[in-house]
Amino acid sequence: MKIKESNYLASAVWEEQYPEATVPEIAFAGRSNVGKSSIINMLLNRKNLARTSGTPGKTQTINFYDVEDQFRFVDLPGYGFAKVSKTKKKSWGKIIETYLNRRPTLMEVILLVDVRHKPSKEDKDMYQWIKACGFNGIVVATKADKLSKGQVAKQEKIIREELMMDADATFVAISSTSRFNKYEMWDIFNQLFEINGFPIHFERQVKERK
Ligand code: GTP
Ligand code: MG
Repeated sequence: MKIKESNYLASAVWEEQYPEATVPEIAFAGRSNVGKSSIINMLLNRKNLARTSGTPGKTQTINFYDVEDQFRFVDLPGYGFAKVSKTKKKSWGKIIETYLNRRPTLMEVILLVDVRHKPSKEDKDMYQWIKACGFNGIVVATKADKLSKGQVAKQEKIIREELMMDADATFVAISSTSRFNKYEMWDIFNQLFEINGFPIHFERQVKERK
């Protein structure tokens, strides 16, 4: 499959607002401003399909993006920005919890962390939560363009330790700005589709090959 078509499908807070559960979904979780919306745009070669912003807390709903009518990327609301009331934090938890626990077509939840920082308490909680829901615990470290290769390797070690990742759990550093490791991401998705029995396979376009 080559990706030609991707479309915004729906924004939802509660289950009754989700689009019909017809195709597999891959969701991106992580603190606000980590780059969830940016990675979706980068992977789909779209500038502004998922709305990004320098203002933390831009994505406050669960946003569904259709890819080729075959699967969906799901942009989850970000956590961890300071100016939020306890009530709002609680409702954020409920929104994510409902989606993680009740979505039959949710194939994988990927945790995004900023490659430059030690994971926060909320990152650790989110990771445990993802694992407890039965997902693989794939971690994608964003903004790798901001560090040298050596620094990225150092940070990988710290992030793996802090999140208590299994030795064989997948960790990929990416950059939505430079597109570093874009195809590694697609390789991971291809594997997930295969393991889960979906006949979906993304092919690199020749002119895009690096
Ligand atoms: P919320 O919607 O608030 O949860 O944030 P988000 O996780 O969707 O983050 P978003 O994609 O909006 O990115 C936040 C900021 O980080 C924007 O200013 C992006 O341009 C920037 N950004 C995202 N990815 C990268 C990256 O790989 N490298 C660099 N240098 N900046 C990035
Ligand atoms: Mg966003």
